[in-house]
Amino acid sequence: MVGKKNNEVDRDVVVTSKEEFLPGVFRMCLETGEYFSSQSKPGQFIQVEVSPGPFPVTRRPFTISRTHGSSIEIVFETVGRGTVLLSEVETGSTVRVLGPLGSGYELNTGGWLLVGGGLGAAGFPDLVSFVDCRLLLLGASSEDRLLLVPGVPVMSATEDGSSGRKGMVTDLIESVPWDSVNNIAVCGPVAMMKAVIQKIPVELISSTQISSEARMGCGWGACEGCSIPKAGGGYLKCCTDGPVFPADSIDWERWEGIH
Ligand SMILES: Cc1cc2nc3c(=O)[nH]c(=O)nc-3n(C[C@H](O)[C@H](O)[C@H](O)COP(=O)(O)OP(=O)(O)OC[C@H]3O[C@@H](n4cnc5c(N)ncnc54)[C@H](O)[C@@H]3O)c2cc1C
Ligand code: FES
Repeated sequence: MVGKKNNEVDRDVVVTSKEEFLPGVFRMCLETGEYFSSQSKPGQFIQVEVSPGPFPVTRRPFTISRTHGSSIEIVFETVGRGTVLLSEVETGSTVRVLGPLGSGYELNTGGWLLVGGGLGAAGFPDLVSFVDCRLLLLGASSEDRLLLVPGVPVMSATEDGSSGRKGMVTDLIESVPWDSVNNIAVCGPVAMMKAVIQKIPVELISSTQISSEARMGCGWGACEGCSIPKAGGGYLKCCTDGPVFPADSIDWERWEGIH
């Protein structure tokens, strides 16, 4: 980190707290400064240099889970070397952060249904503070992977039946009171998001936004490592065109095929 100059979008920020609130799932609070937190919109992400050493070469992307004052929070699961390194960063240390990056949600008026698969729900705490969330549907492998959002009505499904209905998040769709829903936000694995899109009422597809977590390189449009298939042909860049997209702008068949 030595030698890199701080500016408003790429800076060393202090880790003010870190908590493993579920096994292998961490909440980390970063003192980013007023400018950074006030510029960020629900659905945007940051690129974190998880280690000052040579590995990993690329930064790792994380959704902004919440903003408060001059701080932001991220929630992440340790799935590989990069996230393990990040989980080992001590409170009081600094990490280098680029952002806020990408597009956020269109914060339309009316009632919202949120649908999250596993860590896909990490960005919902920020979103619910801006929209009228009527219901949150959560799906996960087990209870210790459910990211609840305090104060929001929730229905959950777990694959092992340890909490809520035994099954998939799509099994909950039939119970949604659709007359209170004007907007939908979906985030999770591609197959899960595709299955959700197939089950929601057709007239709500154009009011549905999805947040993608395609693997990334640079995070700012230079490497094309995060391309996802666009409806009608061509590709969209998850990092700069997204990560939030209208559900009907995606070619779901092609995307599921390459994932
Ligand atoms: C816009 C965006 C927002 C994200 N927000 C969050 C978040 O809020 N919380 C969170 O925990 N994770 C989030 N992710 C995923 C996170 O970036 C990856 O889990 C992380 O980069 C993995 O790094 P690693 O070095 O630990 O794992 P690696 O060693 O790189 O990979 C370990 C395993 O995880 C898989 N993996 C890695 N990246 C992804 C990915 N993007 N999607 C699916 N599988 C992946 C690999 O295929 C491999 O099996 C987000 C990704 C994107 C693109
Ligand atoms: S991650 Fe490099 S172009 Fe999107």
